[in-house]
Amino acid sequence: MISTKEFVISKLLRAGDYISGESLSTELNISRAAVNTAVKSLRNDGYDIKSVTNKGYKLMNRPDLLTSGEINAIIPDRDNIIILPEVDSTNKYLKDLAYNGAPSGTVVISDCQTAGRGRLGRSFHSPSGSGIYLSYLMRPSAAPQLISTITCWSAVAVSNAIKATFGPEPSIKWVNDILINDMKICGILTEMSLESEIGAVSSVVIGIGINVNEAPDDFPAELRTIASSIRHEINSKEPLHRASLAAALIKELDHMCSSFPDARQVYIDSYRKNCSTVGLQVSVVSAHNHTSEIPRLGTATGIGDDFSLKVRFEDGHEENLSSGEVSVRRK
Ligand code: BTN
Repeated sequence: MISTKEFVISKLLRAGDYISGESLSTELNISRAAVNTAVKSLRNDGYDIKSVTNKGYKLMNRPDLLTSGEINAIIPDRDNIIILPEVDSTNKYLKDLAYNGAPSGTVVISDCQTAGRGRLGRSFHSPSGSGIYLSYLMRPSAAPQLISTITCWSAVAVSNAIKATFGPEPSIKWVNDILINDMKICGILTEMSLESEIGAVSSVVIGIGINVNEAPDDFPAELRTIASSIRHEINSKEPLHRASLAAALIKELDHMCSSFPDARQVYIDSYRKNCSTVGLQVSVVSAHNHTSEIPRLGTATGIGDDFSLKVRFEDGHEENLSSGEVSVRRK
């Protein structure tokens, strides 16, 4: 359920021209005074809304806000999207909803996270006003080995959404980091829940964190050589519009969800095309023991049909590495 204010901005965005106060009040079934109040509040949020007697309201300029009105303007028929100004972790929030029966396709988006979670128990830097922190619920009915590849399917979905929205085609660092110019601009953390009696997967929460508008200084010092934002990497003078990317991502994830697992070949082909790890020398440590173990050195030679990474080690033997078991870095 979105608020009156969010409905008004959604209508103004979709119209792209003047809409009379009267038609807004009729369409939304609210008083003219309520339309005025909504417009005032939107102006306070940074929207430039012109009003002309006998013509109505027209949106002239808009800030980069991740709100339900902005997303509804692009995908008006999509339900089950929850947008929060702040949360500890969208994954944690959605896992609770999943536990309480939320349907497949439920999405949680937040403008910032106070305890964003990354892979291998790390935290994920999630400041407000610049990134997208989105979690998507899937309830797939497929064999667990196939379900464990959803994280790689999601990497393809994120790359497609970024390309469709802003132009450049990102690369994928195995297993699921999204890069532009070799800098990480997105991370994905997929968490599964099992139905304990039968051992089947009851839900998969796909958590996606995208750095959209951050400047290099916005990252903690230890991340500045590896992490960046899409805006910085594509040299955009203007801030990028996060809601457009979030809506494109939801569309891609919906498509992925409805074509899983039948479209496997399409996703594996895209993944192979975009995976920048193949051909590189890599350093491999087990995911459970990534701090204390001595890394094994090798060369990434390809991606298997199960999205595993084929590595030839220095002693000549080859292994197919699965994401749950290892972590890979450039040598
Ligand atoms: C990684 O690169 O280590 C994975 C990062 C995943 C971050 C996203 S942001 C949205 C969702 N909520 C979380 O707490 N984590 C994921």
